[in-house]
Amino acid sequence: MYHNPVMLKECIEGLNINPEGIYADVTFGGGGHSRAILERLTTGHLYAFDQDEDAEANVFDDERFTFIPQNFKYFKNFIQLYQGERKIDGIIADLGVSSHQFDTPEKGFSTRFDGPLDMRMSQMTPNDAATVVNTYDHADLTRIFRLYGEMQQPQLMASDIIMAREAEPIETTEQLKAAVQRRLPRGKENKVLAQLFQALRIEVNQELEAISAFLTQCPDVLKQGGRLVVMSYHSLEDRLVKNFMKTGNAEGKENKDFYGNLLTPYTIITRKPIVPSDEEMENNNRARSAKLRIAERK
Ligand SMILES: C[S@@+](CC[C@H](N)C(=O)[O-])C[C@H]1O[C@@H](n2cnc3c(N)ncnc32)[C@H](O)[C@@H]1O
Repeated sequence: MYHNPVMLKECIEGLNINPEGIYADVTFGGGGHSRAILERLTTGHLYAFDQDEDAEANVFDDERFTFIPQNFKYFKNFIQLYQGERKIDGIIADLGVSSHQFDTPEKGFSTRFDGPLDMRMSQMTPNDAATVVNTYDHADLTRIFRLYGEMQQPQLMASDIIMAREAEPIETTEQLKAAVQRRLPRGKENKVLAQLFQALRIEVNQELEAISAFLTQCPDVLKQGGRLVVMSYHSLEDRLVKNFMKTGNAEGKENKDFYGNLLTPYTIITRKPIVPSDEEMENNNRARSAKLRIAERK
């Protein structure tokens, strides 16, 4: 299966769908969320984005549906290309990588298989993970391991990688794992490897920059009462989503008007993020870290 959609019911409820409305799913993937949206539309329309060329195999042949094979950092431009200045009723983003991407060894996302150190979601992405691992200097490797992997000892991990690559270039996931093997605390090997792979993936795909660009554009595209529904899978993503929904900016910096009222584009629908039911977490490993936040355009 390409991807099992997470918190499908909660996301669809969060969108509060108007059957005649215009919606955007900016992370189409296997189309699980998109299909459920289309089922609820009559004369409405759904625009779906995905930067991964593989996702195109899942598109629907439906006149109410348009697939846009692009990075969602260009969201506003493409919506305006199709819609002009007309605003839309709802946006859903299910961030991160799909099960298909994780489970394809040649993409190099998973610590479970040997594969090339690629990790690009799109073939258009300029640098793969091998480029990062073999060319970044010690300071830059340390920075991404600390920021994107939230690692305890990022500088030691960076030193090990630099030492290993001096002997021979690190081209595969197994070579990378071997290079840092002695740095993995007993019993926490998988956790630290997952942090390392997460850091590289975020850097390769410039994920936080893309999410920030997208979230910056949402208020301009949503109509009043329109819903923004975002699901994230690690704390860095969730922090950005929370800050943008609360204040309209990445830092969560509060801007107030002359009278001291908070200036913000949204009414928050979920004070605390929604998490999957115990049953869903049991049945779908990937759902375990999911956090869903919903906001409504003022
Ligand atoms: C978690 S999956 C979405 C799964 C989908 N909701 C479903 O039900 O099948 C995330 C998808 O978003 C895509 N993606 C991630 N970042 C993107 C970006 N910046 N621009 C466009 N697509 C992106 C990935 O390629 C992947 O297919």
